[in-house]
Amino acid sequence: AGTADLTGKRLLVTAGGTRERLDPVRFLTNDSSGKMGYAIAAAAQRAGADVTLITAPTKLPVPSGVTVVPIESTQDLADAVLTRLPAADGLVMAAAVADFQPIESADQKIKKTNANDELVLRLKKTPDILQAVAAQKRPDQVVVGFAAETQHLLENGRQKLTKKHLDLLAANDVSRADIGFNGDNNQVTFLFADGHNEQTPVTSKRAIATTLITHVAEIFNQK
Ligand code: PMT
Repeated sequence: AGTADLTGKRLLVTAGGTRERLDPVRFLTNDSSGKMGYAIAAAAQRAGADVTLITAPTKLPVPSGVTVVPIESTQDLADAVLTRLPAADGLVMAAAVADFQPIESADQKIKKTNANDELVLRLKKTPDILQAVAAQKRPDQVVVGFAAETQHLLENGRQKLTKKHLDLLAANDVSRADIGFNGDNNQVTFLFADGHNEQTPVTSKRAIATTLITHVAEIFNQK
């Protein structure tokens, strides 16, 4: 690790939890802090890549030397990724993307009245960004996904790798409090397209990001 060279490679990295608006002051989101994606953007930048970080709102400082594109919703993220994909050499999708969005987002604040003891929210599936990427990906491009799972980590991860035509997938167990969402540490199992797996120890997101970027550099070399 640490020797990865991505000089001249244009890499898109996504981070944070997307927000799906219910009304002007409320949204649905998840526990993602953005730390994993920001660490990957920083590691790619250290390796010499030209990095664009497409990020949902986070509390994190912008990594130096990285171009930042702020987004909010899954649809924003899809648009930002898909417009930049043709000019990119690679994509790492570390963002925690909402799977469902409200069918209607109210223009005005939803009011509590005497008539509505219950409020029913109707949700529809969001666009699957990696699925859309798979459909237009060139053979020279490297696409890395994550899988956030609470059970059957490797089986579900393999299915996502295959279905989304990924070069590499980092599967993390998000049912554990010490890793995954929010903390400074993580543990991932890298699932490679050739069928082999490699598990990291529980370590800093910075260290995992460095390892991930080393794998990305190796995959570019094999292309
Ligand atoms: O941000 P942190 O607090 O540091 O936490 C890091 C993390 C746990 C969020 C991160 O390591 C992680 O696992 N990110 C992916 C979360 C996720 O959305 O996983 P998923 O299994 O639901 O989705 C699989 C892959 O498809 C992901 O790469 C995701 O970005 C992508 N996806 C998901 C839904 C969707 N509509 N479009 C997508 O492209």
